[in-house]
Amino acid sequence: MTYRYSDGSTPVGLDVGTSRIVAAWPDETDYVYRSELNSFVALPGSKFTESVLRKENVPHTVRANEILVQGNESERFADLLGAESRRPMARGFLNPDEPESLTMIGELLRSLLGTASHARQKLFFSIPAAPAGAADTLTFHEATLRQMLSELGYDAKSVSEGLAVVYSELEGSNYTGIGISIGGGLCNVCMSYLAVPVISFSVPKAGDYIDASAAAVTNDMATRVRLIKESSFLFGGVQPEKTHQVIAVYYDDLIQSLVGAMKDVFTKSKSLPRLGRPIPLVISGGSTMPLGFRERFERAMQVAEFPVPISEIRLAGNPLTATAKGALIAALSEM
Ligand SMILES: Nc1ncnc2c1ncn2[C@@H]1O[C@H](COP(=O)(O)OP(=O)(O)OP(=O)(O)O)[C@@H](O)[C@H]1O
Ligand SMILES: [Mg+2]
Repeated sequence: MTYRYSDGSTPVGLDVGTSRIVAAWPDETDYVYRSELNSFVALPGSKFTESVLRKENVPHTVRANEILVQGNESERFADLLGAESRRPMARGFLNPDEPESLTMIGELLRSLLGTASHARQKLFFSIPAAPAGAADTLTFHEATLRQMLSELGYDAKSVSEGLAVVYSELEGSNYTGIGISIGGGLCNVCMSYLAVPVISFSVPKAGDYIDASAAAVTNDMATRVRLIKESSFLFGGVQPEKTHQVIAVYYDDLIQSLVGAMKDVFTKSKSLPRLGRPIPLVISGGSTMPLGFRERFERAMQVAEFPVPISEIRLAGNPLTATAKGALIAALSEM
């Protein structure tokens, strides 16, 4: 039976990703999700366009002489106009190079979540783990999102993305194991022992890196490479076109960087518990979607001789919603 507040509303789980923002709510038997692309594009100002967007319920913001279209429709408009879409976040964090970053995320959150209907409606949102050895942008990122969510009326707390994957996928091992999210901006890794995060870190390379690097080689737009990657890329066999070959090269580069960083961090860690038996590892996030990804990752782990014994390497039930689901499980556990 789902926990409901007196007005019928429920706690909320939120995945604030570089690529997509996903919200999760419980319903009677399962969870429901809504997502928006975390991007926007500027269109020339026009009363006529404005009225059409309003009629179609497309999230947008009207400015003096332009209209900013946010979320899922932004990618299509960018592709049609031959422009790159603009991104409020980069490599997992609020994007310091995008002046509209805060306004755009604020608007996306408002259109996705609405204002809290209950006075102390709980919401857990995902944050990345700090990148190994990088400057601290996490404090600002976390505080800013918490502030925006409190302004919408939510009682908001953060949960690290890797731990959210553990909450979502590792109930079977009592939340002992390794959860990894391979998203748009970065990879998040969390090793958990009985739901306690023991090692967490991030690697600032993921789907966006593949798109941008491949686009530079093929002299194409990153948005276009991304569309090709999402619709027709898979591992193994002969790649049908040059773009697919180049995507494969950068995908392998990403896997090498992730597995290399994991080996490095786990080898050096002093807090590595003596577990006595192999633990499961779950991979999640949009970049795990191409057919054959899991096998490729598993092979790289074997070749690298990863220092922690692993019982299985599994793909999350739904790689696109696992983080939001884990955040929701965190929120529900506090009821
Ligand atoms: N079917 C697919 N095939 C290949 N890549 C995909 C597919 N679907 C989504 N992606 C890629 O997954 C990435 C987005 O994944 P996800 O939504 O998990 O990231 P995010 O949570 O927004 O970002 P992050 O966690 O890095 O901040 C993008 O690079 C996107 O191109
Ligand atoms: Mg993510």
